[in-house]
Amino acid sequence: MAQSNIEETGIKTLYHPSKEVVKQANIKDYEKVYAESIADPEAFWAKEAKQLKWYKKWSKVLDDSEEPFYKWFVGGKINIIHNAIDRHLLTWRRNKLAIIWEGEPGDVRTMSYHALNREVSKFASVLKSMGVKKGEIVTIYMPQIPELVIAMLACAKIGAAHSVVYGGFSHEALATRIEDAQSRVLVTADGGYRRGKITDLKSIANEAINRSPTIEVCITVKRTGHEVHMENDRDFWYHDLMNLPIASPNCETEVMDSEDLLFILYTSGTTGKPKGLMHTHGGYTLYTSATHKYVFDIKDEDRWWCAADPGWITGHSYLVYGPLINGSTMVMYEGAPNHPYPNRWWQMVEKYGITIMYTSPTAIRGLMRFGDQWPKRHDLSTLRLLGSVGEPINPEAWRWYYEVIGGGKCPIMDTWWQTETGGHMITPLPVTALKPGSATKPFFGIEAIVVNENAEEVKPGEEGKLVIKGPWPGMARSIYGDPDRYVSTYWEDYKDKGWYKAGDSARIDEDGYIWVIGRIDDVIKVSGYRLGTAEVESALVSHPKVAEAAAIAIPHEVKGNSIQVFVILKANVTGSKELEEELREHVGSEIGPIARPDKVTFVESLPKTRSGKIMRRVLKAKAMGTEVGDLSTLEE
Ligand code: PRX
Repeated sequence: MAQSNIEETGIKTLYHPSKEVVKQANIKDYEKVYAESIADPEAFWAKEAKQLKWYKKWSKVLDDSEEPFYKWFVGGKINIIHNAIDRHLLTWRRNKLAIIWEGEPGDVRTMSYHALNREVSKFASVLKSMGVKKGEIVTIYMPQIPELVIAMLACAKIGAAHSVVYGGFSHEALATRIEDAQSRVLVTADGGYRRGKITDLKSIANEAINRSPTIEVCITVKRTGHEVHMENDRDFWYHDLMNLPIASPNCETEVMDSEDLLFILYTSGTTGKPKGLMHTHGGYTLYTSATHKYVFDIKDEDRWWCAADPGWITGHSYLVYGPLINGSTMVMYEGAPNHPYPNRWWQMVEKYGITIMYTSPTAIRGLMRFGDQWPKRHDLSTLRLLGSVGEPINPEAWRWYYEVIGGGKCPIMDTWWQTETGGHMITPLPVTALKPGSATKPFFGIEAIVVNENAEEVKPGEEGKLVIKGPWPGMARSIYGDPDRYVSTYWEDYKDKGWYKAGDSARIDEDGYIWVIGRIDDVIKVSGYRLGTAEVESALVSHPKVAEAAAIAIPHEVKGNSIQVFVILKANVTGSKELEEELREHVGSEIGPIARPDKVTFVESLPKTRSGKIMRRVLKAKAMGTEVGDLSTLEE
């Protein structure tokens, strides 16, 4: 089991919401609504779905005839864009700001729903003129600029699916994802700004394209203006295309089936090959908007800031789709939280009057290190709610976030969920009494339990595997091109019961509060980013001097976990400091800088089971100086 970083002392302390918070909460009685949602989930979801715009109403809420390939809102016709943009144009929200964007150098752009619609429609027309068809997957590889959002929305509008690849990934990682999705069109940018430097995205994209024969068209947004290589017939500048008559602002939103593909998003699993989780128009539209509305108590006056990169699921669900469906004004920022100074984020909160802020424990811990004086220089009084996501938040960081950033008046929504779940699964609502470090209770319609090896529920306080009973609308429908892997990864362990295996360990305390501890599979969470040990290992083995490698996660004060690797070198190669650095670099360039191991250790052999599986827990115990545990399956 993963190492717990939850202090037992945190369990007893309850933080109750203030009267003001309760008074304006969209949901006042969690227990009552929760009980109703569990008594009849289909009725609950049908009622929620009625708040969305459908071209045609569904005939069946849930079709479980091909379990676990569940279908939601069968027969319904919808498009997420019809809900995220079109319907707002008919109301006063047409002139409400949809996006307030700030670049790292300090440049600012704002866009109303009207303006966003024009940009999205124009780019949708461009994509159509490039022959992009309904169902085709367009790969997007961009920095955090408004055009990233525009590109995603434009794809959805014409019924194409998007696959956003995080802008911090290497050309290798990008090429593998393009190949899996068989994308014909890539949308990228010349670069972006990060810590005062330019990230040279177009060069990385070019290297990936050289390995990706499927790419016929690459559209590049000019962000930094530095010299980049463009090829005739393949490369087009975004601004050139958007100035041509093909960029018509009149573009109909495509009518989609509820179950039609909206996007795929690659995430790490237990093998080296990332899996493309598939999300659909109907269920995802409903789930992201309902969770955003109830968990973050969203109001028209709010200034919502989700600090996640759209390259990850948090960005998809709560930077882009959930907020736009709810007609919110979102804030988006391009760069690093501490550039040029550690007050950059707090400056943003003050400048834009941000009311709700959603970020990761890593970011909070990272900024906490610089001390209270940085946030104290700013008026953060507009904040009314805070959010945390991506990894367990330790009570110390929780309290700092609560006291110093939230001024002791903003409840923290510690939301547990996954790329696979589409949206929040275990989370407080603003009215929930909070315990620092606990994601508290399940969202409406969700039943979460903790079980032992025999699939029996464990006693309160005992650690076990986190399981979700039954389907929910926001769930991923499959893994792109690999339905068998979808079944074996998530559903096979509890086949007879129809339960979903989350891959996390957790415990539930006597008050029914859920404490998520961490991954129990070969997935590592570093700074909230999700990586697979197998990905890191195959990157290492691709180095000519490496024979074999094992990667493990070691608890880290700021990053949550850091990566440590054990490497067997090829015969006649000797380890050295230089080689350690070379291997770190190599992993960074194969996957992306986030995957760079903190520590490289050269070894003669690796602990393995008789069937040849690396026993990572033995390596971890050794690295941390803890008990090794049962060694009966160890080969030698
Ligand atoms: O281990 C859990 C952790 O992040 C994993 C999912 O990662 P990913 O698909 O990248 O999605 C992250 C953003 C939703 C989970 O299996 N995790 C996520 N949120 C929390 C968390 N662990 C503890 N507390 C959370 N609030």
